[in-house]
Amino acid sequence: MFPDGWKHNLFILFPLLTVFEVKGKMEKKDLGATINTYDMAAGEALGKREGHTPRIEAPAKAKPDEAIMIKVSVGPHPNTVEHSIRWLAVFYYEEGRAFNPMALAKVSFNAPTTEPEITLKVKLQKSGVIHALEYCNLHGLWSGKKEITIG
Ligand SMILES: [Fe+2]
Repeated sequence: MFPDGWKHNLFILFPLLTVFEVKGKMEKKDLGATINTYDMAAGEALGKREGHTPRIEAPAKAKPDEAIMIKVSVGPHPNTVEHSIRWLAVFYYEEGRAFNPMALAKVSFNAPTTEPEITLKVKLQKSGVIHALEYCNLHGLWSGKKEITIG
C-alpha cells in the first residue's frame, strides 16, 4: 500500500516527535533551582516545609581543628516504604575555598527501620556555612543551612 521508504521514515519520526513533545512540556530549571528551602517554598511546598527542611544543630563558634558535633534531622515526616526521607547529605561551604562546597557525609535511610537523623564529628579550619540536603521520594529536594565561625 505505502512504499517501504515511507514506513521506515514513520518509525524513525514517531519516537523523535514523542521526545520533542515531552521535552516541550518539561521545566528547564537548573538542578539548584529545584531545591526547596524553608524561605523560598511556594505553592504546594508551603505546607511541606516544616516536615522537610533539614534542621542543623551545631555550635555557632569553634576553634580551628577543634572536634565539634553536627546533628542533622528531618521531620516529623512519614517513614514508610511508600513515603520517606530516602537520604541526607551534608556539605560545608568554606570561606576562601576555590571550589565549594566540600562534601562531609551522605547517608541513606531504610524506611521504616531507620529515622532521618545523623550526627557527625568534624574538624573545620575556616568559617563557613553548613548545608544539609535531603530527598523525600514524594516531595523532592529540601535544604537547610547554618553559619559557623571558626577562630
Ligand atoms: Fe515527604
